[in-house]
Order: sequence, then C-alpha cells, then structure tokens
Amino acid sequence: MTSPANPFRPGFGESPTVWSGRGTILDAYRHAIETDAGSPGRMLLINGARGIGKTALINELEDIARTNGWVLLRTSSNKNMLGELIDTAIPEAINSLNGRPGRRISGASIAGIGSLRTEQEDAEPVTPSLASQLRRLAEFTGAHRSGILITMDEVQAADADDIGVLVTAVQDLVRDDIAVSFIGAGLTAGIQSLLNAPGTTFLRRSQRYQLAPLQQDDAVDLLQRTAEPTDVVFSPESARHAARSAFGYPYLLQLIGSLAWRISLAEGTGTVSTGAVEEAVGLAIPVLGNQVHQPELATLPHAQLDFLHAMATVMDRATDPEHPDRVRIHDLAEELRKPVTSLSRVRAALIDRDIIHSPAWGTVAFRLPYLREFLDSPGGPLEVS
Ligand SMILES: Nc1ncnc2c1ncn2[C@@H]1O[C@H](COP(=O)(O)OP(=O)(O)OP(=O)(O)O)[C@@H](O)[C@H]1O
Ligand SMILES: [Mg+2]
Repeated sequence: MTSPANPFRPGFGESPTVWSGRGTILDAYRHAIETDAGSPGRMLLINGARGIGKTALINELEDIARTNGWVLLRTSSNKNMLGELIDTAIPEAINSLNGRPGRRISGASIAGIGSLRTEQEDAEPVTPSLASQLRRLAEFTGAHRSGILITMDEVQAADADDIGVLVTAVQDLVRDDIAVSFIGAGLTAGIQSLLNAPGTTFLRRSQRYQLAPLQQDDAVDLLQRTAEPTDVVFSPESARHAARSAFGYPYLLQLIGSLAWRISLAEGTGTVSTGAVEEAVGLAIPVLGNQVHQPELATLPHAQLDFLHAMATVMDRATDPEHPDRVRIHDLAEELRKPVTSLSRVRAALIDRDIIHSPAWGTVAFRLPYLREFLDSPGGPLEVS
C-alpha cells in the first residue's frame, strides 16, 4: 500500500500547494496589470532572506500577468542569459502569439489587424539584439492589447553587464509606452547592483518590497488549508504552535508542516497534535541548518563570522530583556574588543546578504530563524576551522 502524498513542499523555488499571504503585493500588481496606468506599479524589485518566498512570489505574480494574457519571459541568471532571451524565449513567444508554434515569423498576419511584416526579405541580415527582439515581440503583444512581463530571479547571481543590457532594453520599451513589466528578485545586494546598473533611473522609481515573514494568521492559514484536503489535519492550536515555532518563515512552515504531517500520519491520529509539532520542530532545526544556515555561512569572510558569533554570545546574556532578539552594537563592540565605528563595514555587508537587519537604531538582529542556535551548537560545522 502506498502512503498518501504529503501536501507540504519544504523546498526552494517550488510553488506551494496552497498559497498564503502577501495579499497587498498581489492586489497592487493585479491592479497595475489590469488598468491602463503607466509603468511604476509594473516594475517590482523584491528582496528578502533565503527561503522567505521570493521565487514563490514571482510565480504568483507571473500567474496574474499570464491570466491577463501577458507574455512571460523568464531570465535565468546564468552566463547565456541574453542569448537565451534573444534566440529562444522571445522567438518562442512570438511564435505562440502568432499561432504558429515552431515556425519563423515572416510577414505574419494577425486576424483583424492586417499584416505585420517582421522580417524584410531583401534587406541585409541583421543580428538581432535584445532591444530589437523585444520590439518585434511588442508589435504582437500590442496588437493583442496585452504586454510583456520579464522576470529575473536570483538577481545577485546574474552578470552585471547582462543586467545593464536587459534593464536598458526594458527602459527603452517603457519610454515608448509599450506595456511592459519587470520583476527582479534576490538578496538585497543583488537588488542594489541592479539599481547601480547603467541607465536604471526608471527602476529607482519601481515598487520595492522587502519580504518579511508571513503574519501569524497567514501562517496558521497556510498550515491548516494545506493539510485540509488530506487525512491528517491541523487543529487551530497545533497550527498556531507550528506557526509560532516557524516565526512565519515560509520555508520553515513548509518543513515543520511536512514533518508534523508525516509524524501524525504514522501515529494514525488524523489530527496533528502539539506534541507532533514539537517533535517536528526538533527535526526541522538541523535540516534548516543544513539547507540554509550552513551554505549561507560557508562563504562568509572571517570578520563577518566573528561578528555573528559575537551576536550569538551577547544574545545569550539577554542584555535587553524587552527585546531578547536584538543586540546593541555597543555591546557587540565590547564583546569583539573593537571600536563601534570599526564594525560598520561588516555590519553593512551582513545586512546586504540578508543575514542580519537593524530593527532599531544602534541594534542588529538575525534575519534567519534559529541562526543563533546554529551558531551556538557545540561541534557544529562552524566550529571546524
Ligand atoms: N506565501 C507562501 N505561501 C505558502 N508557501 C510559501 C509561500 N512563500 C513561500 N512558500 C514556500 O516556502 C518555500 C521557500 O520559498 P522560495 O523558494 O520562494 O524562497 P526564496 O526566497 O526564493 O529562497 P531562496 O533565496 O533560497 O531562493 C517553498 O517551499 C515555497 O513553496
Ligand atoms: Mg528563490
């Protein structure tokens, strides 16, 4: 007998079976796509820590645009990003709009709007550029009264020159009033480099979102609705307990949800108990360590690691009982035996990497849940020099 399928998706880049939260962003984007308004709400820059839900959010936003008949161009942040767009993704999009998959478009005609000649037979062959290809595509989307959505995930991994070319091409379309939308997502540092690319003034006016953890209600809703159609469901109490333990962090919600669901299925109880949630949290924390903390810290320079270790040490002393998650830079400097001013570069670098943030002036806190526990764990990977 095969076991019923686990409805949770504790992975990265995978769409969840049940979506929860981020309603404000989705509503604003839907409005921007559906109305004829200019471009600002169609330009989105999303940043946030690993596992906070950037890729899943891009997928949802793509669905909104697609539902409105927009054409989707996904860029991959690999070496041949521009080549893939110019030679494959855009021609495929043109062909599909043209109703002739697999064929070249030459002198194509769209019903009702007459003939569109997109390739001149007697002219000298011209190597297409991203800008020229996008313009060709725009002739078709314009004729269909739809638009072009370009998404770019993992911006921090893309080549800076490629980003410059892409953003300049998008800006050209914006300038010509062509319906276009651009969504870039990645770590803060990546979004910053996007804004520093040449010719990106228009992007500075785009809608910026720093993804925070899900609200408690949305997190509870995620757990309950995901399990609802299966044989094992969450009680309001166990869902609340799991949501609190996950700190609203989507990857961890999926992970704890998945483990608690599996444990309860094996127990044959039909409802996830708070005991099962606790067992799941115990199992989830080391997985989070392996999947998120460890790879995140593996590439950090020593000064940044020292800073994080010192944060964990200061937090263990609970210097601010009202905000046990916050560390005063002043206390950190004392712990590291360094002047406060000498810490600012390391602090800024860790903020750019979305590992820490500054919840109040002169303080820092970890962004990733359970990072402090990971840093504190004896014999953990960080202890090995
Ligand atoms: N709003 C949401 N509702 C339900 N599940 C979500 C939501 N957002 C994210 N998830 C789930 O959380 C997990 C992590 O999400 P995602 O891969 O989008 O994170 P990410 O920010 O792109 O991470 P990374 O920086 O590593 O690429 C996935 O399993 C995803 O399905
Ligand atoms: Mg992602």
